[in-house]
Amino acid sequence: MSALNRRPPEIVVVGSTMTDMIAYVTRAPNSGETVIGDSFSLGFGGKGANQAVMSSRFGAKVKMINTLGDDVFGETTLKNFKEQGIDTTYVNRVPGPSGVAPIWVEADGSNRIICVPGANFAMTVPQVQSALSEISEIDVLVGQLEIRQEVSAAAFAAARARGITTILNPAPFAPLLPELLKNSDWVIPNETEFAGLDKSGRAPDSDDVIIDVARNLNCRLVVTLGEKGAAYVDRDWKVVRVAAPKVTAIDTTGAGDAFVGAFAVGLGLGFEPLKAVKLGCASASLSVTRKGTQSSYPSKQEALELLSQVD
Ligand code: RIB
Repeated sequence: MSALNRRPPEIVVVGSTMTDMIAYVTRAPNSGETVIGDSFSLGFGGKGANQAVMSSRFGAKVKMINTLGDDVFGETTLKNFKEQGIDTTYVNRVPGPSGVAPIWVEADGSNRIICVPGANFAMTVPQVQSALSEISEIDVLVGQLEIRQEVSAAAFAAARARGITTILNPAPFAPLLPELLKNSDWVIPNETEFAGLDKSGRAPDSDDVIIDVARNLNCRLVVTLGEKGAAYVDRDWKVVRVAAPKVTAIDTTGAGDAFVGAFAVGLGLGFEPLKAVKLGCASASLSVTRKGTQSSYPSKQEALELLSQVD
C-alpha cells in the first residue's frame, strides 16, 4: 500500500513552543560589539512546535501538549497551531510570558539560539500524565529538552507502558535523566548534542564512535550531520549513512526539527528506519533553502511530493 493511502499516523508532541526573533547578519557581534543586521523576522518556533508542524504537513494527526503564557505570543501561537491543523486540546495557559528565542543567523546560514522558556517550564508531570491518559490512540510520542526533563520523563514512561514508540531529540543538550533515556526508543542528536551524550565528548566522526555511543545509551540512535545528512545504527550494530540532497543553505534554523518531525511520520507510517531517515533528510534539506523556522518547512503539497519520492 502506498504511504499516501495508509491511515495517518497519530503523533503526540510533548514539548516546547517559542516565538523566534531572528536577526539575519553578515557576521555575529563579538562581546561588547554592535553590528548592523541585514533583516529581521518574527515567527513561530520552539523545537516541540516545529516538530509538530512538520509532522502535520505530512498529514499526520498531531496533538500538542504544552503550556503557553497569557501574553500575545501565547495567543498567536495557539492560533498558529489551529491554522496548522494541530490539536490544541492539551495546550494550557498560565499567567506570565510564553517562551521566546532570540536567534542570530549569519551569512553561511548557521545560527546561534537562546531559548527563554517562560511558560514552557510551567508544564507539570500531572498535566502530561492526565493528557496522555485521555488520548487513546498514539503511534509515536516525540519530546525534546526545552521543557523540564522530569515532565518529559513522565510522558515517556507513560508511553513506554503502553508500547508507544518514543523519540527523544536531546536538544538543547543537557545530561539526561536515566528515567528519560531508559524510556526512549530512538534518540536523535545533532553533532553537538552527540558529543554531549558521549562521556568523553567525542564527535560522531567515525562509525566506531557512533556505535560505541549507541551501545552506551542502549537505544536506537540517529545522528543528524547537517549538510552531510544523517547516520543511524541498525539492529546489527552497523552504521548506515544517508546523504542529504545538495542544496545551498541560507538559514539552518529548525532543520533538525524538520528532520525529527518527518522521521516520526515515517515511523508512524511503518517505514523501515532507512526510509524514515531519508524522509527526514529530504525535509531538512528543503527547509535550509528558505528563511525562518516553520516558515521554511515544506508545504503540505511539497510534503506529499517528498513522501511519494522517498524509497
Ligand atoms: O531548533 C530550532 C528552534 O530552537 C527554534 O525554533 C527556537 O525556538 C529553538 O527552540
